[in-house]
Amino acid sequence: MLEPRVAASTITDKSIERQLGGLTNVSLRSCCRKARARTSMWWDKRMSSSARTGTDLWGEDDNAVRYGEFARRYPGYSETSRDLVALASPARDATVLDLACGTGATTVEILSVLGPDGKVVAVDKSPAMLRVAAGSVRDRRVQWVQAAAEDVGGLLSAPVDAAVCNSAIWQTDLAATAVAVRSVLATGGRFVFNVGLGFLEQLDDPNQLGDLPGVMRAIAARDYGWTPPTARTAPAARPRTRLSREAITRWLGEAGFEIETVEELSYEESLEAQQAWLAVPIFTTMYLPGLPYRERMRVLEEAYAQVGGDKTQTGRWVAFAATAGPDRL
Ligand SMILES: C[S@@+](CC[C@H](N)C(=O)[O-])C[C@H]1O[C@@H](n2cnc3c(N)ncnc32)[C@H](O)[C@@H]1O
Repeated sequence: MLEPRVAASTITDKSIERQLGGLTNVSLRSCCRKARARTSMWWDKRMSSSARTGTDLWGEDDNAVRYGEFARRYPGYSETSRDLVALASPARDATVLDLACGTGATTVEILSVLGPDGKVVAVDKSPAMLRVAAGSVRDRRVQWVQAAAEDVGGLLSAPVDAAVCNSAIWQTDLAATAVAVRSVLATGGRFVFNVGLGFLEQLDDPNQLGDLPGVMRAIAARDYGWTPPTARTAPAARPRTRLSREAITRWLGEAGFEIETVEELSYEESLEAQQAWLAVPIFTTMYLPGLPYRERMRVLEEAYAQVGGDKTQTGRWVAFAATAGPDRL
């Protein structure tokens, strides 16, 4: 195994700024419709390609701190992680790869099922996310490694017994990630990950926020002259096959995995949690690229006031568990 590449460091946590609305309500419907088509195309590219284009939305310290705070305060990322860990069912002395570990919500769930001799190799491409993780999850069984999921193949000198990737796999090049994971996973070990149902169904808004994104964009256009990026101004994206169950099955098969389980899972999320999630900078950047954070939060506040909404919404996910077949070499 490698030496840890990221040392634990102290992070000064900031409280999330509450932006006040105070803007007048107007009819937003036609404006929403115009903005929707162009922005959804851009969204799709941005979500799948930021790792490859140099626009690393996960790389900023402020984003990492706010994400870490959100993940600690609200149960969403812990709950989805817990279900993946249950599907991976590692032995207590197993070594588990936590792929795209973020600020450590998944790492904590893996640690909770391991004994004193178990280990977690927690990998993320973002040093900012790893700094927050290493500062808050202080456990000698974890090794923090900065690397892209697609490159994990060359990193480890001993195989791992299981690999878990919560809420991130669609941000990687899954075909390449599956090959890399297979090369570090012991035969018979499980590779478990989840995909939001909205991505598999290729919805314009995979987060299924209903009218909210359109209303936000309309307010931003009205108050700040915001316009969605055009083909010329959006960052270049590498063309990639869209995620589908068929594509995932094919990529896993080509990498030497056999799919064991494909399970739909639902999670209740409060309106407050949803709004707090959108206050993590990266998530509103997806909807309002180019608009500064303070303005995005102001827009968000007003959009919620207009849209209202149910007390809870249901997050729908599909979990995949695949077993590493015999080595082919
Ligand atoms: C939504 S967070 C999930 C983090 C963690 N698994 C959790 O449940 O809280 C997505 C993470 O994926 C990481 N990520 C995105 N693309 C990646 C890639 N190609 N390789 C490694 N990490 C990646 C980001 O840096 C970010 O930390």
